[in-house]
Amino acid sequence: MMKRTMLSLMLCLTIFAAHAQSTADEREKVKWFTDARFGMFIHWGLYSAAEGIWEGERLRNSNNYAEWIRYRNRIPEAEYTGLAKRFDWAKINPEQWVLLAKKAGMKYILITAKHHDGTAIWNSKVSDNNLSKLSGTNRDVLKELAAACKKHDMKLGFYYSHWLDWEHPDGWDHNQEITGRITDEQYNKYWQSKVLPQLRELLTNYGDIAMIWFDMWVDYKSTIVKKEQLDQVISLIHKLQPACLINSRLGFPANYPGIDFETMGDNQLGAVYTDHPWETSGTIANSWGYNALENEYKSTSQLLQSLISNVSLNGGFTLNIGPRADGAVPYEDQTRLNEMGTWLAKNGESVYGCTGLKLRPDQHDWGRITTKKLNNKQIVYLQVYNWPLDKVLRLTGILSKPEKAELITDAGKVALNFTQAGPYTHIQLPDVAGDHFVSVIALEYPQPVELDEKAAAESTFGGLALTGANASEKLYKSVPFDGLRPSHLVIDKAGLLTWRVYISTPGTYNADVSFHNSSKTGTSVKISTGSQNLSQLLKPTGKVVVEPHDSYTDEFVNNRLGELNFPKEGYYNITLTADAKENQKLLLNRIWLNKKP
Ligand code: GLC
Repeated sequence: MMKRTMLSLMLCLTIFAAHAQSTADEREKVKWFTDARFGMFIHWGLYSAAEGIWEGERLRNSNNYAEWIRYRNRIPEAEYTGLAKRFDWAKINPEQWVLLAKKAGMKYILITAKHHDGTAIWNSKVSDNNLSKLSGTNRDVLKELAAACKKHDMKLGFYYSHWLDWEHPDGWDHNQEITGRITDEQYNKYWQSKVLPQLRELLTNYGDIAMIWFDMWVDYKSTIVKKEQLDQVISLIHKLQPACLINSRLGFPANYPGIDFETMGDNQLGAVYTDHPWETSGTIANSWGYNALENEYKSTSQLLQSLISNVSLNGGFTLNIGPRADGAVPYEDQTRLNEMGTWLAKNGESVYGCTGLKLRPDQHDWGRITTKKLNNKQIVYLQVYNWPLDKVLRLTGILSKPEKAELITDAGKVALNFTQAGPYTHIQLPDVAGDHFVSVIALEYPQPVELDEKAAAESTFGGLALTGANASEKLYKSVPFDGLRPSHLVIDKAGLLTWRVYISTPGTYNADVSFHNSSKTGTSVKISTGSQNLSQLLKPTGKVVVEPHDSYTDEFVNNRLGELNFPKEGYYNITLTADAKENQKLLLNRIWLNKKP
């Protein structure tokens, strides 16, 4: 009996050790990617030559996705392949793309080897439907790109549209849902004769491939693709290039064995800190492939903020360019990448190899936080989007005291004074911001920082907003800002909410409540701290005019509840009890606590 227990214990330990080993190996395999954080996506194929216009008509979809033009504008295959003649091979030079990525501070390039149109952009032996053959050149753009990446020390990955293929007779396009599904056998013919052999080519002829990026944005179970087919892809990649990463848009969840990182929805930035590796692919305007009719470009600060906010949640950012059929990168893309590169050359230590702190996401109104370990120290980077006019940067949530605080400027690092009290670090700022886009302040700690993830964060200029987001309990439904009404809690039953606040300056504070109440009688509320109570009947509120004559919305009003006295420095609990009922709802926006002037 004893022996059997020992045996099963040993077996458990072996399995546990093997599991720990395999997750350690996986982390090691994906480490270059989680360190890189920033890469270049390139959408380039036959569609680039259509430029989002077909026979005088714009793309038939307001998302502007020009790489979808063959499908959206119902272009016959023979006419579509004719676009190959527009490619200007005398000008096309993939090394330019690599140099641009390098200058932008990007660590990998991901190019659409085959997009949904089914046309390989390399000289594929598997299918004549390839750019080299169709445009009558002996060039292989992927060979040239691979050589340039090697020369400039840039990782290379391939996007491969596995699920959709609009040119193969047995491939899938969404219209199959109406026109009669192709059979599983037919689809498997496509899979065995095109997908697997082409992936084999890509993984054999172009040196080390850092990742294959697949593109299926729904669960594979709701598609024609079978689990076995996807597993075949994983084993092929593992056999030919064991170090090559695979993204979740293969059709599996991020934790499926063989999936190395999660890809979010297009342009969908992270919302919470996520432990496993992940990235967002993003566009500079809307389209991925070149679209002549684009004119809504994101600004450089917006793009930088997308990168930084993902890193602060442990994610990365793969930013797209859509070169034209002569290889040229649109000027608007170039300027943004160059500006990002300049910023990263100066502030890159706050992005590469960084992750985030597990505080509430988005809790500071001035920006985001990234962090990394460096020679046994922890560096915390405050990414300041908005430079406070009162010259104090208020950080909440770190209990440890930094050894030093430094602002990164064009002229190097400048030491800043700071104070530490409870979970607050107040940093004295100079007049001039460290950067036009995002200023970075590096805080250095001798040991891993100790966090207080519960304390409500201070606002710029001081003051504490107690909201649904920073309350200790999730008792009530939380409604996000809907464009007119502020975010609020729907208080529809009696209950108690608690906030944890730190008071660094003792004294008398004003307490205000911002709310809407559409009941007939109003709702009684009481906020308390220690033995102090402030009670009030919050009377019914009405509507407010948004636009003359046609648009009204719930009015949220601000009531002074009274004064609370905090006699000494330290933590306090603030509670709110509301005497609400189902038919007597109180919509609570926030309680605002601010030191009396
Ligand atoms: C989408 C689109 C595609 C684009 C991709 C990039 O899935 O179908 O055109 O390549 O996202 O993220």
